Amino acid sequence: MNRLFSALAAACRNRMGRATAVLLPVVLACPDATAWLTRIDDDGTLESLPAIVQTRCTTCHRPGGGAPFALAAPEDFRRRLRQIDEVLARDLMPPWPLDPGAVRMIGDAIALRPQERARLRRWLAEGAPDESFVRPSAPGSAAEAIADDVDGEARPPDLLLRQEAPFTVPAEGVLVTRSFVLPVPASAMSLVQRIEVRPSHPEVARHALLSIDLTGSGRMLEKADPDPGYPAPGDMGLTPAGAFGGWSIGSGANRLPAPFVRAVPGASDLIVQFDFHPIGREVPFTFEVALWCALPCEWSDALVPVAAGSLVIDLAPGERGAVVEETFELPVAAALVEILPHAGAAAVGVEVLVEPPGDAARAVLAARRWHPDWHRPFTFRHPPELPARTRITARIHFDNSPDNPSNPFDPPRRVRLGHGPGFEQGLVLLQFAPADAAERPHLERLHRDLYLARIRARQGWQRSQGSDLPARSTEAPVRR
Ligand code: HEC
Repeated sequence: MNRLFSALAAACRNRMGRATAVLLPVVLACPDATAWLTRIDDDGTLESLPAIVQTRCTTCHRPGGGAPFALAAPEDFRRRLRQIDEVLARDLMPPWPLDPGAVRMIGDAIALRPQERARLRRWLAEGAPDESFVRPSAPGSAAEAIADDVDGEARPPDLLLRQEAPFTVPAEGVLVTRSFVLPVPASAMSLVQRIEVRPSHPEVARHALLSIDLTGSGRMLEKADPDPGYPAPGDMGLTPAGAFGGWSIGSGANRLPAPFVRAVPGASDLIVQFDFHPIGREVPFTFEVALWCALPCEWSDALVPVAAGSLVIDLAPGERGAVVEETFELPVAAALVEILPHAGAAAVGVEVLVEPPGDAARAVLAARRWHPDWHRPFTFRHPPELPARTRITARIHFDNSPDNPSNPFDPPRRVRLGHGPGFEQGLVLLQFAPADAAERPHLERLHRDLYLARIRARQGWQRSQGSDLPARSTEAPVRR
């Protein structure tokens, strides 16, 4: 394994060596557009209404941004005063599930701060007048609030993979899962820092989860289906979907903070799982994935995924307060770089706690209003460095009652492990970079051991149930 990675690293260095002559400095897509942003305090609260709207709404509410209508100018708000006020009052928009400010994540610029919410609602109550929608006369220094999240990579991607044949997303249905197989050329670069998923129709695609398949299983599944892709999640053996990052509406590029990278072996397959929401008409869907190598790149900073959670999920109709939880001990010192919760419509909260030896436990991720549509990786701006023997707990809270607004069934039904409406997942994927690259195998073993223990627990549970349980939805849910 080490030899493979050294070869990959060498390939990457060679490639980068050749590429340096054409490197461009990284610039923002439109630097002037951010010059007028001002901040009034350290948690990133924005002062002016145009800045709030531009940063927290227009990211998605613009043509091609994935949201159903544009929100940029006062007249856009006047058209739907009541509806907008309601989603703000219920904290449904912008769709950022994490508590803002506590731990900074890449992409959290869309999170609306409490003062901004109050400010917007006051303006809506006045009828969203043009006069109040003015930019401050003194330009602020806080372009940083969004600069990190603006899609501004000027350098052309090192690798562009395309799904050429369109997949027809059906007009009807609640959730359509489809995985696509994009072959990675044998000569491709191998250490990736930035990934952009570019769907042709973001309005039908809520999120995408990427993983690398070295087994050829994805190709076989694709061959067996006459249409592009195959109708199942992108998990491959011990590699869960999303182990290579992901995308959701408004998330921008999946970028890792320097120096961390993801390893992609040449001649492998990139598996891209999309979850589609049909929109009442058929959509010919294609997409491309752009990948950028890190500068400079070292395989020693490549991430190792470790999943925590449970494969035993069984929620009674109406059940509230069920929790899936797993704690493990980190065998080696490592940075925790990214967290991807795998949880569906019955999940209402996700937490990840870290407890270094001799220290108190603290939350590094807290989503108190989980929504399955915003299923995506959360990448730390400043990944916490954790010492060896840090205890890590991943916890998912479920609510299978009608009080959970995401529950697709009314009255609620029994919910078990699987994919699709009426089925649930309970895994949290944690991406680590070991402080010492020689210790990678310890993390890889941890992932395998935890996985096997979960499979054994599930087999034991299945025996106790005495029946073979379906793992896919067969009944149509009732939309509420
Ligand atoms: C990350 C992307 C994103 C951001 C940022 C965002 N929205 Fe949305 N918004 C969406 C999507 C997608 C939908 C469609 C939801 C659906 O169909 O379920 C939506 C729907 C809405 C709706 C209609 C809700 C309904 O009941 O149908 C309103 C109102 C709204 N957004 C307001 C806002 C406001 C105000 C902001 C900024 C403060 C904002 N959104 C920020 C993606 C976003």
